[in-house]
Amino acid sequence: METDNKHFKRYTVTTALPYANGPIHIGHLAGVYIPADTYVRYLRMKGEDVMFVGGSDEHGVPITIKAEKEGCTPQDIVDRYHKIIKDSFEELGISFDVYSRTSSKTHAETASSFFKKLYNDGKFVEKESDQFFDPERNKFLSDRYIIGTCPKCGNDHAYGDQCEKCGSSLSPDELINPHSALSGASLVKKKTKHWYLPLDQYESWLKEWILEGHKEWKPNVYGQVKSWIDGGLQPRAVTRDLDWGVPVPLENAEGKVLYVWFDAPIGYISNTVEYCRQNGTDWEKWWKDEDTKLVHFIGKDNIVFHCIIFPCMLKAYGDGFVLPDNVPANEFLNLENDKISTSRNWAVWLHEYLEELPGKQDVLRYVLTANAPETKDNNFTWKDYQDRNNNELLAIFGNFVNRTLVLTHKFYDGVVPAPGVFNEKDANAVAEMNAYPDIIAKLIENYKFREALSELMNLARLGNRYLTDNEPWKQIKTDPERVKTVMYLSLQIVAKLAILSEPFLPFSAKKLQKMLSFDVEGWDQAATTELLPVGHIVRIPELLFEKVEDAVVETQIKKLEDARKQNELNAWKPADIKSTVSFDDFAKVDIRVGTVLECVKVPKADKLLQFLIDDGMSKRTIVSGIAKFYPDPQQLVGKQVCFIANFEPRKLKGVVSEGMILSAEDKDGKLVLLSPRDIVTPGCSVG
Ligand code: MF3
Ligand code: ZN
Repeated sequence: METDNKHFKRYTVTTALPYANGPIHIGHLAGVYIPADTYVRYLRMKGEDVMFVGGSDEHGVPITIKAEKEGCTPQDIVDRYHKIIKDSFEELGISFDVYSRTSSKTHAETASSFFKKLYNDGKFVEKESDQFFDPERNKFLSDRYIIGTCPKCGNDHAYGDQCEKCGSSLSPDELINPHSALSGASLVKKKTKHWYLPLDQYESWLKEWILEGHKEWKPNVYGQVKSWIDGGLQPRAVTRDLDWGVPVPLENAEGKVLYVWFDAPIGYISNTVEYCRQNGTDWEKWWKDEDTKLVHFIGKDNIVFHCIIFPCMLKAYGDGFVLPDNVPANEFLNLENDKISTSRNWAVWLHEYLEELPGKQDVLRYVLTANAPETKDNNFTWKDYQDRNNNELLAIFGNFVNRTLVLTHKFYDGVVPAPGVFNEKDANAVAEMNAYPDIIAKLIENYKFREALSELMNLARLGNRYLTDNEPWKQIKTDPERVKTVMYLSLQIVAKLAILSEPFLPFSAKKLQKMLSFDVEGWDQAATTELLPVGHIVRIPELLFEKVEDAVVETQIKKLEDARKQNELNAWKPADIKSTVSFDDFAKVDIRVGTVLECVKVPKADKLLQFLIDDGMSKRTIVSGIAKFYPDPQQLVGKQVCFIANFEPRKLKGVVSEGMILSAEDKDGKLVLLSPRDIVTPGCSVG
């Protein structure tokens, strides 16, 4: 699966614009942003001309729902998250040329003129349809704002697009008794006009362009596209009745905006325009020159939009717009064997990672590339994070660099020694190490970042092996001339690592380059043997990576466990009511009030408290398993409790318990003793 032989003059590389209604998590990073950044950094090192475009997707219904919930405006929401997202990308070293937003003025202009041209060129079909309308709020409702009874399971809080109880996907028409989530009003149907992109008219063109012309696309992408096309394409509405978005630039279209999936990909163009305006350069060459290679990095849920809908929009527009040369979409990343979920807070959030594990950007980049879900869903675990850091980054890469530099200082005060004649082993090592730039380049160019990274590690392994085979620390006594060659070549491998690691581990690469006092010229430089000339001085090494201790990952795992517990609490519901009992049956249970005379912990039983109760007639002993919730039993003395007086006596840890004390179990499992609201006479009945 080689890429085309065509040489492009420049690259426009885009990353899916994340919705600005939440922060970035590791799933986004592994799927989209880290591979894209690796690719772009590599291209720049090859001397290619690149425009790396990102930005926030700030329209769409979920953002309005979040605003509604928090009692603020959608603009407040996107302002908040745009900043968090942008800052965290920057700190992770995602090297966008531009990271802008779809609520910008440039975007509104670009998107509406894009729509206008398609409209004027007659590329849309206009259709009227009946939509649910909230008469109280005087507006059309999108599916999420419509609530009713699920026809499948009877849940009376199902949404117009989905029932969250039984998981069925629904259309608002299927709901029984649909009403407005905004006002509670019953809904009426009203006619509304929208514009549709007739995807069906592009079917044969798509078949030729993708199914025939892009067989080299990743199988997961190609397969999904093929099944969409084979299933038959329908016209897609590109407008919505909504008050948040880019207004439809037509007369008589008040209250209508562009559909978020129409305006968002145009964001790639408007962000490029914004960048070029600011820099006084021409934006069109990035989008309208056939020598520009356009590549979209996305997750698998975005495939249809980037492989079918956006290309149809560009094709309909004409005017020389290029189409994507590739769309290397990834599958999903799971976290600790469970689906990442924003609503369940089951995620590792980038901004929190950066704060809690400062200086470890490259570790995350490394682990997420090594585990990238390139061909199938993959899994992130904190244990694997620790192992990869300790056993790979530190033990292989860091160790080789450190050994080499420490020995260079020990033997030669940091000066690169002059080598002797290479023996056969040296010559083999040279041939092998000089092949890596090309091996890694080919893999990156074919979007195989995992494999590329593992080849980078193989170069470090080669270095370690070369050192171990030649044992310079021993030979320095017996054959010091030979050691010069060994150290010379080892240093050249270190310098190669300083170049080739840059797309993957940009922070460590820079640090290493500094340690070597080495200025990188470019990727291809790494194929030459001598990078550090004889006589060049390297600095005293610092550690490139540090050990990740157990406590660090334990803290992270604990955080996830807390999230899981919180979810369980949030999902808590009262238990189902037990089957009916008669009055006679109920009356058999003799519940009474008693006063606590003594209360102590039962020795060797950490759950049990032993009560001595005044039951109005005598003193009785009752053992109860609530010690955990009343750590200071002395405080219970004098309090009144309810107990079952005719409960069969039982022996617990050697103590005979004459009854059962009643308590309520709260949703988190906490037990709370029941007492009468006011003081009553000990021995009186409860019923
Ligand atoms: N916001 C979308 C998502 O997170 C992606 C949009 S990609 C776009 O799924 F460029 F088309 F905007
Ligand atoms: Zn249901």
